Amino acid sequence: MFEQPSPDLASVIGAIHRRQAEQDDGIARFARDVHAGLSSRPRVLDSKYLYDSRGSELFEQICVQPEYYPTRTEAAILRKRSGEIAQQTGPVTVVELGAGTSAKTEHLLRAYHSADCLHGYVAVDVSDSALRKGRETIHAALPEVDSHMLCATYDAAFSAVGQLGRTMLVFLGSTIGNFPPEAMDEFFSQVAESLGRGEFFLLGVDLHKETTVLEAAYNDAKGVTAAFTLNLFARMNRELGADIDLSAVQHRAHYNVERRQIEICAEFTRPQAVHVQPLGVVHGIAAGERIWTEVSRKFTIEQLSLHVAPFGLTTRRVFSDDSDRYALVLFERTLP
Ligand code: AVJ
Repeated sequence: MFEQPSPDLASVIGAIHRRQAEQDDGIARFARDVHAGLSSRPRVLDSKYLYDSRGSELFEQICVQPEYYPTRTEAAILRKRSGEIAQQTGPVTVVELGAGTSAKTEHLLRAYHSADCLHGYVAVDVSDSALRKGRETIHAALPEVDSHMLCATYDAAFSAVGQLGRTMLVFLGSTIGNFPPEAMDEFFSQVAESLGRGEFFLLGVDLHKETTVLEAAYNDAKGVTAAFTLNLFARMNRELGADIDLSAVQHRAHYNVERRQIEICAEFTRPQAVHVQPLGVVHGIAAGERIWTEVSRKFTIEQLSLHVAPFGLTTRRVFSDDSDRYALVLFERTLP
């Protein structure tokens, strides 16, 4: 018997070191960003920090709350309409940005596969664990599909698109609604530049609607969304030694109709000293003060289509649910 080859220790340790370096840098960066955000007026925190492992768990729970319709509505549209989407685009490689665990994408891939329109699937995400889970799902459901998981930022994905043949970029979950306006435009221009003429971009967007429906979605009765907001402060306690009394922090979500966006903040009911230990600084928060944590923009199809046209993205089809709560918009890359 030959001995089993011993695991390549150097590469195992190298990976651990890299992960460690990332984490150290992660905390230093988190500390700097929190300090900058708490120094600004109004005080803000970057919503990307909501998604540590606990926050990602809570977000998955939000997605199944009865009041939070976007996830299930998007999944239903994908289940029903993916065949039509495939008919519209013809054969493509599907490249999904922020794929996570690819749960909803399975419907899309299944339809493309049965229409013989799927060259391959590339899932792009910064979370390796989510990608691995997704790979299992997709390999089990569609073993014949040439699927790849790319653990990378969107930038890396954009530069790869040109080498993948005829492509459809996919960006689901209305995550676009979280981007500040400049970041959103930068994103649209990168999408447009990475695509060749006649290629496609499928975007999931939550639509503008009655305030009561929107506010309920971000104030679920079980309090999962509140726990999601509070977890950011718990994370500051864990990672930055912030020493915040969480019982003094309240989740607030309100729909700003003029700006068409849900605005989420934490309101302090008692004064708190917020420490940023790695930097040795303290921020005094007064009773009644608010720290903004998230903006979730809502769209109208007309405004969105007009907005992206100058980037060279032409609206080809809109797939929405019966009550027009949510839409998947299919854009074709045209000349600007
Ligand atoms: C992941 C950005 C689409 O804005 O609806 C849900 C995040 N925050 N509930 C959204 C979120 C609170 C979600 N997105």
